[in-house]
Amino acid sequence: MNNLSKLLKNKTPIWFMRQAGRYLPEYKRIRKKEKNFLNLCFNPDLAAEISLQPINRFNFDFVILFCDILVIPYALGKEVDFKEKLGPIIEKTRNVSEFKNLNYDTSMERLSPVMETIKKIKEQRPEKNLIGFCGGPFTVLTYMIEGGTSKNHLLIKKKIKENREDFKNLIKIITNLSIKYLELQIISGANIVKVFESWAGLLDEKDYDDFVIKPNKKIQEDLKKKFPSIPIIFFPRNSGRNIFSFIKNIDCDILSLDKEFPKELLNLAKEKKIILQGNLDPQILIEGGKKLEDEVKKIMMEFSNYNHIFNLSHGILPITPIKNVEKTIEIVRNF
Ligand code: CP3
Repeated sequence: MNNLSKLLKNKTPIWFMRQAGRYLPEYKRIRKKEKNFLNLCFNPDLAAEISLQPINRFNFDFVILFCDILVIPYALGKEVDFKEKLGPIIEKTRNVSEFKNLNYDTSMERLSPVMETIKKIKEQRPEKNLIGFCGGPFTVLTYMIEGGTSKNHLLIKKKIKENREDFKNLIKIITNLSIKYLELQIISGANIVKVFESWAGLLDEKDYDDFVIKPNKKIQEDLKKKFPSIPIIFFPRNSGRNIFSFIKNIDCDILSLDKEFPKELLNLAKEKKIILQGNLDPQILIEGGKKLEDEVKKIMMEFSNYNHIFNLSHGILPITPIKNVEKTIEIVRNF
């Protein structure tokens, strides 16, 4: 973890989830010309340019690849579309037998433009740590079953109850493809990878074990065998107290914290030498003013005795004022 420990020694590094996106006028200009979001993710020149926009503007400490977690269902042969206001629409999956003839090489071939993007980013900014990523297997599964963003996720919960073994097999396919995808990202130049398990909080203890811990553990173990020095950031969002079994079972390098993580986690993380990342509320970043300044300082104090990377508790929102991002970076860098 050479680069990373060097960086952590001198100061608290800072980057934001979704730092490349619609709060940036330079992103919106590109987006206006390319209406199809997936085309943008698979255009290496534009995706590299977008990944570097927040670096050029704010000099964040990390670059995160511009892409989306829903390229995995696309690689599995499903139609994926992003509609303005509606969000993503994914051709629904009913059961695992749909993938009985799946060819992993063909699937990976569909993701090859992402590897070109990574190489282009590294060529342009070799000195920056580049974060590659994938969705957490359970989060990707929820989108594949629900067909898009869902308010209450009734369908996935019902299907898991009705047909548990089928869905355990399906999540294995998603997990194996995600591992191959992250391996290729690392080979192409990603120095760190992150697993966005955004919907981990939906599950009770037993389901959490089968559908969150086991797949995330498999990703961790397989990647560490091949790339022991590449740090992995896990983000099992809104896990509540299940987070304790997460870190008991999975050897995390870095844990990305949501708004409401249990405070006992702090000491446990220290014992286990886990780097903590987080956790400014994106709503407060929108509000700005004294409330933002106080909150940023509070977070810096709270984590001052821990290895800490400053970040948000979830992705930055499109109406976030640029000046609030600048202010936050200034406070963190001068703390
Ligand atoms: O962090 C970064 O800067 C890298 C890029 C990135 C995007 N999506 C780009 C994006 C990352 C890491 C993601 C992850 C992602 N995508 C997650 C996990 C993290 C989270 O937010 O919970 C999830 C669940 C998705 C799925 C997704 N993609 C949704 C639900 C949406 C629509 C909602 C929205 O914010 O528009 C997207 C679209 C998306 N992904 C955009 C961007 C910049 C907006 C697309 C646009 O320009 O219209």
